[in-house]
Amino acid sequence: MEKLIIEGNRPLKGEVEISGSKNAALPIMAATLLTDEPCIIRRVPKLRDTMTMLKLLRSLGKRAELSGHEVIVESKGSLRHVAEYQLVSTMRGSFCVLGPLLAKLHKARVSLPGGCVIGVRPVDLHLKGLHALGTKIEIENGYVVATAKNLRGTSVYLGGVFGSSVLATANVLMAATLAKGQTTIESAACEPEIENLCYFLQAMGAQIDGVGSHRLVVSGVKRLHGARFDIIPDRIEAGTYILLAAATRSDIRIKGAHYAHLWALVDKLDQMGIRVINQNNVIRLEHQWRLKPVGVTTHPYPGFPTDLQAQFMSLMTITPGVSIITERVYPDRFIHIAELHRMGADIRREGSNAIIQGVKVLHGAPVMASDLRASAGLVIAGLMAKGRTEIHRMYHLERGYENLDDKLMGLGAKVYREKE
Ligand code: EPZ
Repeated sequence: MEKLIIEGNRPLKGEVEISGSKNAALPIMAATLLTDEPCIIRRVPKLRDTMTMLKLLRSLGKRAELSGHEVIVESKGSLRHVAEYQLVSTMRGSFCVLGPLLAKLHKARVSLPGGCVIGVRPVDLHLKGLHALGTKIEIENGYVVATAKNLRGTSVYLGGVFGSSVLATANVLMAATLAKGQTTIESAACEPEIENLCYFLQAMGAQIDGVGSHRLVVSGVKRLHGARFDIIPDRIEAGTYILLAAATRSDIRIKGAHYAHLWALVDKLDQMGIRVINQNNVIRLEHQWRLKPVGVTTHPYPGFPTDLQAQFMSLMTITPGVSIITERVYPDRFIHIAELHRMGADIRREGSNAIIQGVKVLHGAPVMASDLRASAGLVIAGLMAKGRTEIHRMYHLERGYENLDDKLMGLGAKVYREKE
């Protein structure tokens, strides 16, 4: 295992290029199970999670290779219907092979992903949607065993206690593409990653109306064909570099992101006194000397993303006054608070709220990465802090940030890896 060392409090400068979106790539790679023909997916980020999805596709009987940032998925014999615990438990995104397997093979046995440090994370909405399409579902020894003689179109409402679900929408949508008749998904997730999945499915021959909205209407087709496709830029990676620039008051040029996917963040930063400017596909920040505290509430898209909450909290730790974060997607996603305390932050948690009293400066410290985005928050804190920060269990960062250390070094940061 390796740890990431950061010598903080240095000015950063330069340009960083945003990679393809992890959370778009994962369901799109799973969607290749819907066809026997070859699929070529470009701009796939090289990350632990995309490697896990390649392994999973191979374990299901596909030939799946990554060359540069291009993934080629081809058939080599018959498809298997079992997604094993070892692969699904390391990455929840693996659960989105359930819909495609069921649509293609009429049966699937997929391990339940279990909980994780960001919360309980149930799959009831996935199962509700697939059941509505005519699937018999049983839970056996930690696996979802799903069978459907014929999937048939229906109307299903996928809103849950915390709003729409991204991967439940992906699973039901993919299953519906090969169902008989028309399926309407009400309260569908409208994240750009789901929109990107819809475009990929359309490129494969699927018939989907309402792309990008909370109401998806799918007319089932008999078969889907292969397709070539480009993954969208990663809005969470882009947001992380924007927050890193804001927190370190740096002049960084962020290239290749979709500004339109970042409005909730841009608006919040504007309220704090930081203007985010987009010119010719390059994002830059204009900083004001004194930042203003704000309140941030996470919501499904187009609301403020939970996947930027930890990174925003790091910025708030040095913002004068009292800032508040309310977590409405994963009410327990606050494990990073304890680590930020170790660096001198003043944060109090009350239920799903975090109350942050700005301090003058953070100090470097050894800290523990607990999940991907919490770790990204600690990287930002480490870059702002005086002295040396050691981020243990840095493999969490490798799940979602391509070439993080190289990109940071390219901006002039002093970061390096050491063996634990
Ligand atoms: C996706 O997870 C992302 N993962 C997560 O990214 C992201 O945090 C999350 O969406 C929210 O934006 C991928 O795309 C691979 P949800 P997903 O179902 O789809 C509840 C990252 O760091 N819920 O939209 O699993 C759930 O508990 C990660 O890149 C149910 O109640 O999230 C949560 O409160 C981590 N029942 C809310 O809905 C269900 O059946 C939204 O979760 C499903 C979800």
